[in-house]
Amino acid sequence: MRKTLVLAVIGALAAGTMVGGATIAFAQADVIKERQENRKQTAAAMRAIKGIIDAKGATAGAVEQAAKLKTLEAAFVKLFPAGSDKGETKALPTVWSDMAGFQAASKGADAAYDKLAVAAGSGDMAALTAAFGGTGKACGACHEKFRAKAN
Ligand code: HEC
Repeated sequence: MRKTLVLAVIGALAAGTMVGGATIAFAQADVIKERQENRKQTAAAMRAIKGIIDAKGATAGAVEQAAKLKTLEAAFVKLFPAGSDKGETKALPTVWSDMAGFQAASKGADAAYDKLAVAAGSGDMAALTAAFGGTGKACGACHEKFRAKAN
């Protein structure tokens, strides 16, 4: 009787482990989707700012977008847990082998968003245009090292 119970417990534990493994695999697919969705929203915020610049609208419209970029970046950098290099991702292995460099690139982008926010608040379209260009460079600097090319 006792032996059967022990075996049953071991069996349940083994089943639990397998379920746990599957859960981790799903979680990784989710985290990849989440960070890609995060970047889609990042690109959307950038397009919105571009729209304001092209329309020569009030620069203040970009204040909210700059804040959105900061919030997205703070979340984005945390969406690279170990193991999430596998799957449908364009993130290069350098993200994990040089996590400090990756985080520095994210900080660089964050600093660019701050400049964007200041320029947006200034009402000076030339300043906003320059800050927008600087932000684009910060995106590119990270992609250059940490994201696979489109093809
Ligand atoms: C700190 C690094 C970093 C910064 C800064 C960064 N990106 Fe990326 N970006 C990545 C990585 C890594 C991926 C690939 C994510 C994946 O596929 O798992 C990516 C993916 C993307 C994608 C593709 C999303 C998809 O549909 O799969 C877009 C669009 C994008 N980034 C736009 C931007 C824009 C715009 C900026 C600047 C405002 C920016 N990124 C700043 C690292 C960065």
